[in-house]
Amino acid sequence: MPVTPVLTGRWNTPESWTLAVYESTDGYQALRQALELGPDDIIKIVKDSGLRGRGGAGFPTGMKWSFIPQGDDRPHYLVINADEGEPGTCKDAPLMTADPHSLVEGIIIAAYAVRAHRAFIYLRGELVHCGRRLRAAVAEAYRAGYLGRDILGSGFDLDLVVHSGAGAYICGEETALLDSLEGRRGQPRLRPPFPATHGLYASPTVVNNVETIATVPFVIRRGVEWFRSMGRERSPGPKIYSLSGHVTRPGQYEAPMGTTLAELLELAGGIRGGRRLKAWTPGGSSTPMLTADHLDVPLDFEGVVEAGSLLGTAAIMIMDETVDMLKVVRRLTQFYAHESCGKCTPCREGTTWMVQILSRLERGQGDAEDVDTLVDACDNIFGRAFCALADGATSPIVSGIKFFRDEFVPATPTGATGPTGPTGPTATDRVAGTPDALAGAH
Ligand SMILES: Cc1cc2nc3c(=O)[nH]c(=O)nc-3n(C[C@H](O)[C@H](O)[C@H](O)COP(=O)(O)O)c2cc1C
Ligand code: SF4
Repeated sequence: MPVTPVLTGRWNTPESWTLAVYESTDGYQALRQALELGPDDIIKIVKDSGLRGRGGAGFPTGMKWSFIPQGDDRPHYLVINADEGEPGTCKDAPLMTADPHSLVEGIIIAAYAVRAHRAFIYLRGELVHCGRRLRAAVAEAYRAGYLGRDILGSGFDLDLVVHSGAGAYICGEETALLDSLEGRRGQPRLRPPFPATHGLYASPTVVNNVETIATVPFVIRRGVEWFRSMGRERSPGPKIYSLSGHVTRPGQYEAPMGTTLAELLELAGGIRGGRRLKAWTPGGSSTPMLTADHLDVPLDFEGVVEAGSLLGTAAIMIMDETVDMLKVVRRLTQFYAHESCGKCTPCREGTTWMVQILSRLERGQGDAEDVDTLVDACDNIFGRAFCALADGATSPIVSGIKFFRDEFVPATPTGATGPTGPTGPTATDRVAGTPDALAGAH
């Protein structure tokens, strides 16, 4: 399998985050090229390249840019989603830390294309060191004339602000991000209207992921054919896969779209300790888990859907045969219950109840009916909540039960002494966790 260090190409160069190193490795040449072209030409190139968003949903980037109204005399904004809160996902933070100028250059090109004169990077609050690198890179770019007024004598102006969030997963959802950026509590907005017409400050706004935008300079510099020579027809280009968990060498592996887990494991030294693979997420915790039967699934947007999951952020969390699946699913569900913004009932109440049911099962105090209740609750939450956080919350539960149902039904019957606690469901369980209580939510 050819390994293609494109986005990660500079990561091992000493001082890779500095302007001097960036410029000495072809940096800001794509910007010079782009400024010679018109904004519409750039949108066409990005459309033709087939670049799809790397933030999770895989929306075609050029098409998203073309939705921005033209000649409307309103301010346009470009917002970079650097919130990266999805469990298992670790690609944007290393990219911004090792090669921040690739993102800055991509931002200038994208802003020029969508005619935005102000851009924001919404950075996950915990990424303090990464924030320092980004801010230093932005300051260098201003000093060198890549940002500010009349960029490289082109007449194009752009200001770029790095804004740190406060560590809420929901602020990665693009409309919650925009509310947060405006200084409000981060909660998703009702759509339509979409950000393309009513985004930041109710103005036309493009929201793109870090990796998506950092890919743009390469597309401009090396061309559509080069980009399409990697990956697959409908999901072209290189991709950063993050491997974590029970793998010998965890980390970021860049490879063409459509690379399989079997191939990635070969690069990463296989499952740690020579153990067997039990389960894995193809794109973070909100994508349904797959098993050892799916090692040869092409990891691109179409391939993973065919296998019953989603590519998401290509965050591959590897779990070996020692993993207690019920514990994993309970823990992930706790994450979603904690991160639910509380705006809508199915998500706010449903995730909390599901944690209670899973905890009861874990204590050995549940029964097979509880497992059916979980599946039923997920059916009622999926597609019925305000945003995709709730859909994601159902993924570990539904896929965990689909592949490992036996581990959810306790060996001890209800009422018998469980491994860690007293007998039978508690009063709290009865009030908050029964099928009746769940049905009352809708
Ligand atoms: C709960 C939730 C969290 C999300 N977190 C992120 C994130 O951290 N980074 C990101 O780029 N997209 C995240 N997304 C997806 C964004 O809403 C949006 O689709 C994405 O930023 C678009 O960029 P792209 O077109 O370049 O992929 C999240 C979505 C949801 C529902
Ligand atoms: S689905 Fe959850 S996170 Fe999304 S708006 Fe509703 S309560 Fe908030």
